[in-house]
Amino acid sequence: MNLFDVYPLYDVTPVTAKGIVVTDDNGQEYLDFYGGHAVISIGHSHPHYINRINAQLNKIGFYSNAVQNPLQKELADKLGQLSGCGNYNLFLCNSGAEANENALKLASFKNGKTRVIAFKNGFHGRTSAAVASTDNEKINAPLNKQQKTTILPFDAIDAFTSEITKGDVCAVIIETIQGVGGLDEPSAMFFQNIAKLCKENDVVLIADEVQCGYGRSGKFFAFQHHGIQPDIITVAKGMANGFPVGGVLIHNSIKASYGLLGTTFGGNHLACAASLAVLEVIEKENLIDNAKNMEAYFRACAAKISQIKKVKGKGLMLGLKFDFEVAELRKKLIYEQHMFTGGAKDKCLLRFLPALNITKEQIDLFFNQLKLALS
Ligand SMILES: Cc1ncc(COP(=O)(O)O)c(C=O)c1O
Repeated sequence: MNLFDVYPLYDVTPVTAKGIVVTDDNGQEYLDFYGGHAVISIGHSHPHYINRINAQLNKIGFYSNAVQNPLQKELADKLGQLSGCGNYNLFLCNSGAEANENALKLASFKNGKTRVIAFKNGFHGRTSAAVASTDNEKINAPLNKQQKTTILPFDAIDAFTSEITKGDVCAVIIETIQGVGGLDEPSAMFFQNIAKLCKENDVVLIADEVQCGYGRSGKFFAFQHHGIQPDIITVAKGMANGFPVGGVLIHNSIKASYGLLGTTFGGNHLACAASLAVLEVIEKENLIDNAKNMEAYFRACAAKISQIKKVKGKGLMLGLKFDFEVAELRKKLIYEQHMFTGGAKDKCLLRFLPALNITKEQIDLFFNQLKLALS
């Protein structure tokens, strides 16, 4: 059987990884400044992560959600403590799309309405309501296009007000910092205005923190830069350093009932152990402070390179804007400088999404190699 051929692949085959170094099947080392698309939050093969998963696997790896699993409550407590969101309840699932799908469904259950407001260049995943809220015609099948979605630009408060007051909107979903789109974010004022309008119109505000959450922006959640409190927060990517986990944080004001949501694999023992290990490392190694501090260092280094026109993003979710398309540069960085970086829908943006424990010396390496590729 062949694989269903949907990914255009770089010709690199990683076989081992440690910290920010990934080694391929020929023994060639690569510096990982992409984190497997913002997933590797505490570095590859972190010893605490390996030990915690191994220890759990030696006890029990999986049982269904029909029985008690105290690891889920331990995870919810730790997440509440580190994020400052103790007044939310946690539903565990397996991916970012699934987290958003559940969030949108929950919004519609809560207020009985059906239309979603989402934003230009947004990406929320590839499942039904999540993909319909994603601003990309190409990945929306005719089936998905049946969903009622209105896509608006950032910071257009008049258009937003006119849509949300029509009475049929169940949810507003927003990436606090856009990932795939290219690191755009609206003003704090816009965030505050839409949060207020959601409250006034009985609309559920969903912050998609799948990529920008979990410390990556220099605060636990990126919305915490803007003084708002969403009704639902979705998380995935960095949550378990590569173990497939997603989460929906649901404000106390939204009530649960048996059977409302459900999943076979979500919240299994191994997933909880992986997620707990990540939170423990984030706390012990002060990785959120590191993300904030390394942003300042990265910006100072970028300012010395004339080809860089702008630095976008926050914390360790950063992008370098050039006045040319970066596809060839990314290839050169992989095959000649041996380092992984990210691209975006904005073809002139090179994305930097390293593990949150990256050091100044490693950022120096990034810029040294980038300079070589640009020369
Ligand atoms: C902001 C955001 N939301 C949702 C998703 C979908 O996550 P997943 O690929 O885990 O389904 C992504 C993935 O890139 C994302 O960046």
